[in-house]
Amino acid sequence: MRPAIFWASDYNFKKVLIKMTHSTSTSVACANIAFIKYWGNRDNALRLPVNGSISMNLDGLFARTTVAFNSSKSDSLLINDYAVTGKGLDRVSSILDLVRGMANIQEKAEVKSENNFPAGAGIASSAAAFGALALAASAAAGLNLSEAELSRLARRGSGSAARSIPAGFVEWQMGKDEEDSYAFSIAQADHWALMDCIAVVSSAHKKTGSTEGHAIASTSPLQNARVEDTLRRLEICRRAILDKDFESFANIIELDSDMMHAVMMTSNPPLMYWQNATVGIFHAVREWRGRGLPVAYTVDAGANVHVICPSDYAKEVEEKLRELPGVINVLVAGAGGGARVIG
Ligand code: DP6
Repeated sequence: MRPAIFWASDYNFKKVLIKMTHSTSTSVACANIAFIKYWGNRDNALRLPVNGSISMNLDGLFARTTVAFNSSKSDSLLINDYAVTGKGLDRVSSILDLVRGMANIQEKAEVKSENNFPAGAGIASSAAAFGALALAASAAAGLNLSEAELSRLARRGSGSAARSIPAGFVEWQMGKDEEDSYAFSIAQADHWALMDCIAVVSSAHKKTGSTEGHAIASTSPLQNARVEDTLRRLEICRRAILDKDFESFANIIELDSDMMHAVMMTSNPPLMYWQNATVGIFHAVREWRGRGLPVAYTVDAGANVHVICPSDYAKEVEEKLRELPGVINVLVAGAGGGARVIG
């Protein structure tokens, strides 16, 4: 039998090797737009949602994050070249702690993250950021996590980030427990050439973030009805995507967005994310669809409107949106791939 000391030295050698080969890693992850929305948790700390959700990754709108484990005394975070401390850093450190636990390492980390899309554009930057962080941190720690494991890890940082790990059209199953609550692709990005024309009507930072919103969702008398009806909406949306049935898709995503905002508006305290221009776009989109243009709207926790259409109509939709009152800018993105390591 080999003496125990050899085992110990083999083990230490592996640890050193892992640190030397994997201590820094850079990853990218796209933002995503939810077609069936996540709103409310059954466990806020674990970010276990009260309902499943479906989204599309947004090609070209991504976060790029580098994680370097090193000998510093504490974790540090730079977002778009600004040093972030306090709650923002704590949220990142809690993901690093999970990774350190899995990899059995103690090193602190330097995290640098950049978004290539404008802040306050109504695009959930936390989804892209925590998707990229989960992948970069686990790769830098020498872990080789499966897609489901990465999605679960990203979920702990921001629920919607669970959906930025897999590619294309993605479903996040609410799951029976923490192990079971992760996202997977229901179709690849090239399955259906849909475009998201994001009409920016306000670049102001929203007063109430999603995390606080999830925490009060259950105070709305409408939340139970929304949650109870979710399996039906998920099934219609999934089918519409698989069949590329735009009419059915348009009706269900608008209903789902309106239901979530009805819950927000009737929570205690009430949350009103829409501006006048937001509602103006709803009316325009419905009118255009009535006249045969395949378009549909959906809105996350903000005032900006995601107008979805088949790619052949994107130019026309973008031009029409730019003419509407209150529209400051329009960003256009197709379906994107999954999170990936780039260095
Ligand atoms: C309205 O994932 O941003 O965009 O987990 O607290 O970070 P946290 O919340 P977040 O919530 C997203 C809410 C939404 C709908 C959705 O993307 O499904």
